[in-house]
Amino acid sequence: MAELNKPIALPDNAEKFDLLRKKNAEAKKGGGETRIASQHKKGKLSARERVELLMDQGTFEEIDRFVTHRSKDFGLDKEHYLGDGVITGYGEINGRLVYVFSQDFTVFGGSLSETHAEKICKIMDMAMKNGAPVIGLNDSGGARIQEGVSSLGGYADIFYRNTLASGVIPQISAIMGPCAGGAVYSPAITDFILMVENTSYMFVTGPNVVKTVTQESVSAEELGGASTHSTKSGVTHFACANELEAIKHIKRLLGYLPQNCEDQAPIYPYELKKDETRPVLDSLIPENPNHPYDMRDVVRGIIDEDSFLEVHENYADNIVVGFGRIAGRSIGIVGNQPQSMAGVLDNNASVKAARFVRFCDSFNVPLLVLVDVPGFLPGTDQEWNGIISNGAKLLYAFSEATVPRITVITRKAYGGAYDVMNSKHIGADLNYAWPTAEIAVMGAKGAAEIIFKKEIAEAEDPEGKLQEKVDDYTAKFAHPYRAAARGFIDEVIFPSETRTKLIKAFKMLENKVDKLPRKKHGNIPL
Ligand code: HXC
Repeated sequence: MAELNKPIALPDNAEKFDLLRKKNAEAKKGGGETRIASQHKKGKLSARERVELLMDQGTFEEIDRFVTHRSKDFGLDKEHYLGDGVITGYGEINGRLVYVFSQDFTVFGGSLSETHAEKICKIMDMAMKNGAPVIGLNDSGGARIQEGVSSLGGYADIFYRNTLASGVIPQISAIMGPCAGGAVYSPAITDFILMVENTSYMFVTGPNVVKTVTQESVSAEELGGASTHSTKSGVTHFACANELEAIKHIKRLLGYLPQNCEDQAPIYPYELKKDETRPVLDSLIPENPNHPYDMRDVVRGIIDEDSFLEVHENYADNIVVGFGRIAGRSIGIVGNQPQSMAGVLDNNASVKAARFVRFCDSFNVPLLVLVDVPGFLPGTDQEWNGIISNGAKLLYAFSEATVPRITVITRKAYGGAYDVMNSKHIGADLNYAWPTAEIAVMGAKGAAEIIFKKEIAEAEDPEGKLQEKVDDYTAKFAHPYRAAARGFIDEVIFPSETRTKLIKAFKMLENKVDKLPRKKHGNIPL
């Protein structure tokens, strides 16, 4: 009894707990207040602030907070920062698991050391095992110069994982500061790149090297800023006005994507109305087939209200690609854009669309293809820059896609472009045409000039003869009924009923199973 009444001596761990608190606080300071203030002065957030804004409140769990570098050269043995310039971990975005790494520019300029790379690789490995997206927030001076090849090896370890993860889990890269040298190749392998205007840039070699090698004078922004990469090179998919916008964009983008290649994108609650017709579409196509209209109006007229997220908005705008929802379900949309270069397919448009189609197919996002295309763009510039292999990329991408695929021809579907743009012949599931569709080898005038060349030249009134032949060709081919008679078009529909048809069609295709022949992998004409 006496034993029981004896007071229990509680272990005194206060000192050890204090040490942990101190270390946690130290890690949270990154490279220190002065450097964080300088980051803010540049209009940039700190690495930790970015993560907090990106993740659902209170869900972020940090991993490897106390990792430090192992280098000893060039004074590095005296300078250690907990976390080594990158914050890594997992958490939730809109209630869904994601993995994130956020480079901390306040620690050695966010440069990548061997240990910094190991931290990134660790969360990438976890993301692969657990089937969830990886988001990289990049803000780094590149390879940690003091570490030499250890740092280069670290980059390669990441590139390798990016490649293995491609098509397995979505990978998103936001560039929020410098991203130079070989460092650009990790984002380049990922699925989507976002850049922030005026505070981020990407290039293989910076302005100084450019000046030395090619004598060109160019600013960092001009060489590799957000506007350059969203308009000229197409490297970035989204140019965002500031970091908050970029973070919002990432969250919105994830809403269209599944967690991994075995998963389906989330279905948003959508109550079908009694009448889902959209009469506005009936008056969209101009009477004159050479007059433009905005394919985005067609997209908006078909999908759920406010659900369009355009990708690569300012690059190759003769083709429109992006995500939308139809009765709450995520779809990928590819549409020729008649208001830019008449919607012709050229090198850039072909590559832009091909990459998007392959992304959608990798991640089970069904495809809607809207066609109004006069053909491929002729000319030496196009030929010498590879329109043959670039056009073939798009052809290949559609042909190998096994997701549900639906085509709607709104107006022109001419020549090879008819075949390429998700025609029945290359495996589309359902092909619709509006009554305004013209499906032929080429436009009536071009056709008449070729096949009746001699007759027109010899006619008393060549102009009149040409017109007569154009009218004849138009009557025979400038409509969808020949294709419908062959079953190449499944149904000719009124524009206003397109949405209703597509809601039913995508639902019908929901459980589609289609397999490609067994192979190691195909050989897309890169
Ligand atoms: C180590 C670096 C660093 C690096 C910057 N710092 N880059 N430390 N390795 N790569 C440090 C600086 O010494 C400085 O430390 C702090 O980060 C901030 O850098 P500043 O120059 O003061 O900042 P700022 O003026 O904003 O200029 C940023 C910068 C510049 C443009 C990124 O630092 C720069 O040019 N860095 C070198 C870029 C580079 O050439 N990287 C290697 C690329 S080749 P203190 O202590 O003063 O705060 C590469 C190969 C990868 O990456 C290959 C993979 C295959």
